[in-house]
Amino acid sequence: MTTDLIRRRDIDQIALLTLANPPVNALGRAVRQKLAALASELEADDSVRAVVLTGEGRVFVGGADIGEFDRPPEEPHLPDVIAAIEAARKPWVAALNGAALGGGAELALGCHYRIFAKEARLGLPETALGLIPGAGGTQRLPRRIGLAPAIEVITAGRTLSANEAQDAGLADRIAAGDLIAEAQAFARTLDGPLPQPAGAASLADPGPAFWEEARARIAKAARGNPAPVAALEAIHVGVAEGFAAGLRAERETFLRLRGSDEAAALRHLFFAERAAVRPAALRGIEPAPMARIGVIGGGTMGSGIAAAIAAAGLEVTLAETGSDALEAGLTRVRAIFEAQVTRGLTDRAGAADRLARVSGTVGLGPLAVCDLVIEAVFEDLAVKRRVFEDLTRLCRPDAILATNTSYLDPERIVAGLPNPDRFIALHFFSPAQVMKLLEIVPLAATTSRTLATGFALAARLGKIPVQAGNGEGFIGNRILKRYRAEAEALLFAGASPAEVDQAMRAFGFGMGPFEMQDMAGLDIAFRAREAARAQGQDLPEGPGDRLVRAGRLGRKSGGGWYDYAPESRQPHPSAEVAALIAPLVTPRPRPSAMEIAERLIGAMAEEGQRICDEGLAQGPADIDLVEVHGYGFPRHKGGPMFHTARKGPTRAGGPACPGPTNADPRKGGAAPT
Ligand code: NAI
Repeated sequence: MTTDLIRRRDIDQIALLTLANPPVNALGRAVRQKLAALASELEADDSVRAVVLTGEGRVFVGGADIGEFDRPPEEPHLPDVIAAIEAARKPWVAALNGAALGGGAELALGCHYRIFAKEARLGLPETALGLIPGAGGTQRLPRRIGLAPAIEVITAGRTLSANEAQDAGLADRIAAGDLIAEAQAFARTLDGPLPQPAGAASLADPGPAFWEEARARIAKAARGNPAPVAALEAIHVGVAEGFAAGLRAERETFLRLRGSDEAAALRHLFFAERAAVRPAALRGIEPAPMARIGVIGGGTMGSGIAAAIAAAGLEVTLAETGSDALEAGLTRVRAIFEAQVTRGLTDRAGAADRLARVSGTVGLGPLAVCDLVIEAVFEDLAVKRRVFEDLTRLCRPDAILATNTSYLDPERIVAGLPNPDRFIALHFFSPAQVMKLLEIVPLAATTSRTLATGFALAARLGKIPVQAGNGEGFIGNRILKRYRAEAEALLFAGASPAEVDQAMRAFGFGMGPFEMQDMAGLDIAFRAREAARAQGQDLPEGPGDRLVRAGRLGRKSGGGWYDYAPESRQPHPSAEVAALIAPLVTPRPRPSAMEIAERLIGAMAEEGQRICDEGLAQGPADIDLVEVHGYGFPRHKGGPMFHTARKGPTRAGGPACPGPTNADPRKGGAAPT
């Protein structure tokens, strides 16, 4: 087995080494051992003049073996193997057949020459896993492509295409045809002295202002992940103190971060995402085709969903009730593509292509040809039922029909309609063209083909799919409701909205729960609660209700949990809100910022555990994916389940809150989001 990890074949004094460790030729211990052994063997072999190193399959080397990160490092270490290759007296030519990532990029950088296949890429994504490159990447890359570009690539975890690598001076050439043949031919021409090793070059120090500016900028973009700044520091040491000191600093930092909470959290998500995208239960099940997709409703969600579909290269038809509504929906889609151009996510031509894939219709007629239809009309059972009745009459019996409902029971939307095997709920998050999460909710009669189609759509759109059971709020909104209730309970304990929000921002959220409600508007949740009350539910009057009754709907009305100056998003603590809450506060020690975050995260984790226990989620990792990809949970904290488990059995969630909680799981009060 081990002997096959790297195959050697000599032709005309050129040794061809092919890494063959599927699926991504990861540099696990056995591969490193073999590579180290081959490096000394080839050095001593007089019949060999040069070495070509390539990978089997579509990847050169995907990186280190992440599974090894939970164990102590084992010899031979990758930096030593790469140093041996770099020090070889015979030229090593890396023939990049595909992606060279992380340790793979570092291995390629240690070779004397690099030839790229057209589709090959080179990148150092370690920071996304809470690490820094650990085998010379922070030292060799700046010396090969220059300081500023290397800082960008390393700290942002960017990947260079073959053309970009060539422009940056990393690719000695891009193969026009057969990569291996060209690399062998190239190797045969080499007979002069080897190029200087990266370490021979010293880099000019741009001075303290440069480093300070870079540190501030990178820390801001990293949002609490310590790795990007740590990578910058390692680069800095290499510039200030030289290559050898830089390598030592890099290795030390790498080993330190490898055992950090953040790296463990990011690894956890890496594996959770990988498992989510390819669910084992659906292996081998053929999804329905998706050549033509319909979206019904061109509002907030429908326009975003249509934009996401068109951006993925699929044709989509947007259906509305009237020509004005349709025009408004298409205008929203256009605005999304324009914003994507402004942000550099596509160019003008790309935006035009996307728009050309979106067609509009008044009424549902043209959806008859669709393979898949997603309904995103008003959150109203009667309206949605009518849409599904029409669809079942109109569409092929095997067309997949999905609802994007937030809180209605999808079973009630489709009850009694023919061919129930093709109904499913696909719950997108707002803005749908941005948010990665897609909750996929099979109904009682949903077949695995229909379910597989949901997952295939997610894969096509670049979303993270999470399968949820059919319970109120599915996974995410159910936890959100609990989170908001706990946030209100903290007000009763004497914390102010600003203190709660600040504590959650300090934890790593972009926004706290009260700012978030002000942004979305308090009236939606209020209307849901009023509707529940009208149906006879006994929902106690909470502070959120009082705010809405006082005309405080959020930012849009100039005030919600905070006051806002006209046209401003800047929240100011509100005396009116403080006065409104004051009578509800039970005097007790006011919670500290730490306690606030702990209680809110604990409440999420507790609700998440209940969801798992009720069989409504596939496991705690899926709860984490929902929170990270749908609700802004800081990625480097791994999600509420991971975070809580890692912190050990502390008080999870605190006592039940006295706020407006609601035991009835289907008719509760959280906002449809
Ligand atoms: P919206 O009010 O912005 O848009 C609804 C659109 O549907 C309107 O443009 C309306 O003209 C159209 N419409 C109504 N009846 C129709 C019919 N019979 N045929 C064609 N079009 C029709 O609502 P929004 O926010 O986009 O929500 C839509 C659905 O998505 C709801 O079920 C909601 O619960 C769900 N949802 C909303 C999220 C949010 O954050 N807004 C997040 C996830 C799901």
